[in-house]
Amino acid sequence: MRKRIIAGNWKMNKTVTEAAELARAVVGQMTAATETDVVLCPPFTDLTAVAAAIAGTPVKLGGQNLHWEEKGAFTGEISAAMLISAGCNYVIIGHSERRQYFGETDETVNLKVKAALKAGLIPILCVGETLAERQSDETAVVVERQVRAALDGLSDAQVAGLVIAYEPVWAIGTGVVATTAQAQEVHALIRTLVGKLYNVQVAAALRIQYGGSMKPDNAGQLLAQKDIDGGLIGGASLDARSFLDIVYA
Ligand code: PGA
Repeated sequence: MRKRIIAGNWKMNKTVTEAAELARAVVGQMTAATETDVVLCPPFTDLTAVAAAIAGTPVKLGGQNLHWEEKGAFTGEISAAMLISAGCNYVIIGHSERRQYFGETDETVNLKVKAALKAGLIPILCVGETLAERQSDETAVVVERQVRAALDGLSDAQVAGLVIAYEPVWAIGTGVVATTAQAQEVHALIRTLVGKLYNVQVAAALRIQYGGSMKPDNAGQLLAQKDIDGGLIGGASLDARSFLDIVYA
């Protein structure tokens, strides 16, 4: 049985004070126990404050990006070791906003996934098609290309332990959520592909999150799908109550 994982991607929101407040609200309102892995991914500058706020709770911390080199002259970049030293267990890699606005490619995503794994971070690898790609019936081709490239050179154990987030770009921040059938179809496609590239045990262990306008009112249906193992939550993660309503959905 795969353990469900709900991660909040705070994107470029929250100052240090605001982030600590939100993290305290999340852990403070987690009154019921949950079998779900809960992860908060604040901006880099907020990591230590959020780490302090969640200390001693089951909530985990993740970065939103990293650089693949270990250290050196890479102004503005953050390494895997830095994320770990700030308290992270997870890191989001290849989010569509990074691919769209910051020139990330399948190749750099692969380098980042390898760097994260080497350092002991769990990658949350994002894939997904744009609206134009979906409309021209290229969803499967695009997602398959992204998954193949990102996983290139990884071992069975590495792939079994990672998290893939399927995030249709047209559903991110738009309020337009994929239907359960659309989401399940792509999740199944990813799992089948991993089964072919690796083996059925690896495919069965891999956790695949859905992301893109997941909210308290649609989370239950999405999470009930056979191959949907969690969610990567943007907008709805900025409010403790709505984030937790998804965790408990
Ligand atoms: P959204 O963002 O929930 O605001 O659509 C999801 C994401 O980009 O990870």
